[in-house]
Amino acid sequence: APSLDGDMERILWTEAEIAARVAELASEVSEDLKESAAPVAVVGVATGAFLFLADLVKRIALPVTVDIVRVESYGASTESSGSPRISSDIKLDVKGKHVILVEDIVDTGKTISLLISHMQSKGACTVSVCTFLDKPARRKVHVELFGDGKFYRGFECPDYFIVGYGMDFAELYRNLPYIGVLKEEKYKL
Ligand code: PRP
Ligand code: MN
Ligand code: MG
Repeated sequence: APSLDGDMERILWTEAEIAARVAELASEVSEDLKESAAPVAVVGVATGAFLFLADLVKRIALPVTVDIVRVESYGASTESSGSPRISSDIKLDVKGKHVILVEDIVDTGKTISLLISHMQSKGACTVSVCTFLDKPARRKVHVELFGDGKFYRGFECPDYFIVGYGMDFAELYRNLPYIGVLKEEKYKL
């Protein structure tokens, strides 16, 4: 059978390193939220954030709702199309709530910026971002949080094409439990 591991140039974060950092982020978020008067709505960005969302909310021992929004911008390319669109909206009401947007990675910042505005327009009282990876080298738009919203990030990511822990190339590799650099021959034809 074809091996996913063999397609990696190298591993950046192992499953254990990811788990340890997720636990720290969950504590940080929980600490910040425990005093909050308004309800907390966690919103994961599909598809990429599905594993991080699950791991994170399991470790937030506070009452939160969990919902999912789907945004697409990359298609089957390694480059962003530059115009992300919401292809499936959340179903819960976030009016008057603290929204925490959960992402696998913030790259150009366009996806998360679109979602911050979207949650703001739905009447959220604050909008925070919790992203497992942040790739500031690729930022094209300034990420403006809303209200007292905070920006939580797991790790700063070097500017490589990475996959795993939810992140894909052409919809594959999402199920890898670690994050690795994809061999160039796998995406450059
Ligand atoms: C990826 C990633 C983020 C977004 C970041 O999603 O999961 O959501 O791109 O890029 P940006 O900061 O340049 O907007 P993608 O659009 O590939 O969809 P997916 O989550 O289904 O893979
Ligand atoms: Mn995504
Ligand atoms: Mg993608």
